Amino acid sequence: MNNLSIIILAAGAGTRMKSEKPKVLHEISGKPMLYYSIKEALELSDDITVVLYHQASRVQQSIEKYFNNINFVIQDHENYPGTGGAVMNIEPKYEKTLVLNADMPLIQAKELKKFDLDATIVMSVLDLEDATGYGRVILENEKVIKIVEQKDANEEELKVTTANAGVYQFETSFLKQYLPLLSNDNAQKEYYITDLIELAIKDNKTLKPLIVSEENFKGVNSKYELAAAEVIHQNRIKKKFMQNGVIMRLPDTIYIEQGVEIEGESVIENGVCLLGNTKIINSIVKTNSIVEDSTLQNSDIGPMARIRPQSYLENTHIGNFVETKKAILNGVKAGHLSYLGDCEMDVGTNVGAGTITCNYDGVNKYKTKVGKNVFIGSDTQLVAPVTIEDDVILAAGACITKDVPKGSLAITRAPMKVIKNYFYKFFKK
Ligand code: UD1
Ligand code: MG
Repeated sequence: MNNLSIIILAAGAGTRMKSEKPKVLHEISGKPMLYYSIKEALELSDDITVVLYHQASRVQQSIEKYFNNINFVIQDHENYPGTGGAVMNIEPKYEKTLVLNADMPLIQAKELKKFDLDATIVMSVLDLEDATGYGRVILENEKVIKIVEQKDANEEELKVTTANAGVYQFETSFLKQYLPLLSNDNAQKEYYITDLIELAIKDNKTLKPLIVSEENFKGVNSKYELAAAEVIHQNRIKKKFMQNGVIMRLPDTIYIEQGVEIEGESVIENGVCLLGNTKIINSIVKTNSIVEDSTLQNSDIGPMARIRPQSYLENTHIGNFVETKKAILNGVKAGHLSYLGDCEMDVGTNVGAGTITCNYDGVNKYKTKVGKNVFIGSDTQLVAPVTIEDDVILAAGACITKDVPKGSLAITRAPMKVIKNYFYKFFKK
């Protein structure tokens, strides 16, 4: 399909989302909906145009973070609103033009390839149980005669369950010739791309309907449909990992964003969230842990651990209620209740329960460096910037404000006092 141009329609306001955020920027598995249409389209074409209007610069900026090789065009929405108006004034490079709505985050390149048929128009058709919201495909003697939008449909037409999925392949010359013939004589006073079907049929052009599945071509118009599409997308992500050897416990409860990588025989338990650019290599992520923009290699974390951005854990054990951020831990054990931020800790170091790296003085952040074989007693505060050299013991309850040299013990405890019979005196018992 190297003779194909693709137009993605993303100019609509998306009023049914009831949001200040443009519809196509609402996220599925951590990426905007529009990201997915573009990603799949790029597998088929090097001539991709995204049509924008509502909050155009906001949408463009969000998308340019991911792609730099697509064209953006602003629709003349005031004069030519609607999906037909959106494709006017575009100059596709190739003989065939595939038009996609941008609110279909589940489309896949392999499905779009099926539109490569010889016809003036190839249109997508969904056979649904309930077609509410979709344009209805009206058939006569098993032949398509037109598409009627929900808002324009009469009672009989509303009963039709054959729907327009919103993807079309046109001969580019047909588009150019027929777009100026569209009218806005309908309930929404918009120029509908769907009216091109009726015009083509009247002039005996070839039209091929292609039956597609809801699973791939589902349109997202509301937050309910967004959540439903995300469930399907999540299942795809998780299925692929499991097929590659990852073990998942109760996968329905696991959330994994697009872009996460999992390698080797890793185990992901129930309730886990893996976010952003996370990489899990031969590791175990136990129940209800969260990992964001971090790497785990030959490590285990959780249950209920929180690994925040830019943490790098290798051969490390992290237990419950431990939070890390920008922590580089190699061969470390931190079994319980700790905050390890802006720090490096080396092989053989044991972090006692309640250890806190005090990395922030209210203005700036500072680093804690801990060497090899350091035993950090429970309830220790490491007031950064601070360096603990190899083979050190920090006694429980220490507040470490100075560097500690190799081989030493640091202790900051006030001597303990025992006052006999004080309880009875105090409570007068
Ligand atoms: C559209 C189809 C409908 C189909 C459904 C499938 C039309 C007239 N209707 O309806 O037959 O069943 O998709 O999901 O095409 N857009 C623009 N400019 C505009 C208006 C919309 O670029 O002026 C974009 C939107 O951003 C969106 C896409 O076109 O990505 C579809 O618009 P939407 O309002 O969602 O159309 P539907 O009512 O879903
Ligand atoms: Mg829609």
